[in-house]
Amino acid sequence: MTTASFSRSNGAAKTVMVTGVSKGLGRALALELSKRGHTVIGCSRSQEKLNSLQSELAAPDRHLLLNVDVRSNSSVEELARLVMEKKVVPDIIVNSAGTINKNNRIWEVPAEEFDTVIDTNVKGVANVMRHFIPLMIPKRQGIIVNMSSGWGRSGAALVAPYCASKWAVEGLSRAVAKEMPDGFAVVALSPGVINTEMLQSCFGSSASVYQTPEAWSLKAATMILNLTAADNGASLTV
Ligand SMILES: NC(=O)c1ccc[n+]([C@@H]2O[C@H](COP(=O)([O-])OP(=O)(O)OC[C@H]3O[C@@H](n4cnc5c(N)ncnc54)[C@H](OP(=O)(O)O)[C@@H]3O)[C@@H](O)[C@H]2O)c1
Repeated sequence: MTTASFSRSNGAAKTVMVTGVSKGLGRALALELSKRGHTVIGCSRSQEKLNSLQSELAAPDRHLLLNVDVRSNSSVEELARLVMEKKVVPDIIVNSAGTINKNNRIWEVPAEEFDTVIDTNVKGVANVMRHFIPLMIPKRQGIIVNMSSGWGRSGAALVAPYCASKWAVEGLSRAVAKEMPDGFAVVALSPGVINTEMLQSCFGSSASVYQTPEAWSLKAATMILNLTAADNGASLTV
């Protein structure tokens, strides 16, 4: 894990941790949050893309971008240790890191690919909650947004591993919501349909008719920043 230059922000701005910031929804959300004056803690695996994001964020030195694979419990634990050390425990976590299987019937999906989808989309979210909720509890309030999908609430051919993972995110979120003390919310969020590399993987060229991540991030940032403890256990849609 490597760290970029970093300094703490002051004032009432929130600290928002976003996983999967190198591209797609996580990247657009990180940029929008930084424009609104919030501090971003971001992670994903591509160091090159993290470097380019760091320079594009408003007030680049205010944010902390780290190379972390959410599938690795020990890497997420190390991220939590660093966040604790720098005294930037997040007010909000958005678990956006995710992956989808190549369009295929279940009997054509290699076992390793099924594992990658579950390890990223389900165990990755669990790894983050395992190491970050204990840091957030002393603050007596906090919001955790676990990125779900319309396919976490319905079934679709050719993406069964992905559907299974997102139904798991819904169940995981509802269950953890019941474990949280007052003052916290854990929600599952279906972001809608957005033209990202993930959508291009399953929709092909017709992905281009959908909204851009930048347009999505304007609505999503407002919604996420306005979540309260009253939303605990909800399944929401942007
Ligand atoms: N786009 C849509 O229409 C749509 C619809 C419903 C739900 N979603 C959900 O929204 C979230 C974001 O999707 P997207 O469309 O933005 O996908 P994307 O463009 O493919 O971006 C996925 C992000 O996750 C990161 N990531 C993947 N595996 C990771 C790992 N093991 N550790 C850390 N980071 C990892 C990727 O970065 P690296 O590869 O650099 O690690 C990338 O930054 C996902 O959870 C997805 O299921 C999207």
